[in-house]
Amino acid sequence: MQLTMDEVLQQARPVLPVLVIEDVGLAVDLARALYAGGVRVLEVTLRTPGALDALAAMRKELPELLIGAGTLIHAEQFAEARDAGAQFTVSPGCTERLAAAADDAGLPYLPGVMTPSEVLLALEYGYRSLKLFPANGASSIKMLKSFKGPFTGIRFCPTGGITPDNLLSFLRLPNVACVGGTWIAPSNLVRARAWDQITQLAAEARALASSLEQPL
Ligand code: 3PG
Repeated sequence: MQLTMDEVLQQARPVLPVLVIEDVGLAVDLARALYAGGVRVLEVTLRTPGALDALAAMRKELPELLIGAGTLIHAEQFAEARDAGAQFTVSPGCTERLAAAADDAGLPYLPGVMTPSEVLLALEYGYRSLKLFPANGASSIKMLKSFKGPFTGIRFCPTGGITPDNLLSFLRLPNVACVGGTWIAPSNLVRARAWDQITQLAAEARALASSLEQPL
């Protein structure tokens, strides 16, 4: 049965790793390292030429992971992502064409927003789970707090500026489903095949966040 985007984000919590894959040959090892650190959902950005091949290889080798395609900025990328095996899709913003292509592809979709009018537009398209992009530290935290009043029931995945230092301030907000970020798998560590360090970064994020999930 197909998951809703909100269910995908719930499974990703606390962190949806945002991957920029430069070398397709390292993709499966990277996914394994993240899995070992507790990651169950990840996003492969379509920013590099081999991204779709990397996504397909990860899906084949690690069927236990839920893998989405991110940085979808052209309508035709939705069908390409679906055909490569993507289980959900993510964009940094949203347009009518992208929303229509996402509908046609039939996959859960996380469109990006930055302003109240963009939230309203996303609501008109029927989306209730939104990526807040870019998330600019303290000002985005304030904005999310302000969004809570008018946008009841809307859940956000702030991305683009999340670090271990501000992670908890975002996750603590009731309208934040999870956060996204590249810091979990930095290119220098991937290039160096520093899998243990990547596993550790993922595990550290989970450990940090677990303090929030404990009942007081
Ligand atoms: C994204 O596409 O979601 C962002 O570029 C990730 O931003 P970050 O590098 O600050 O995590």
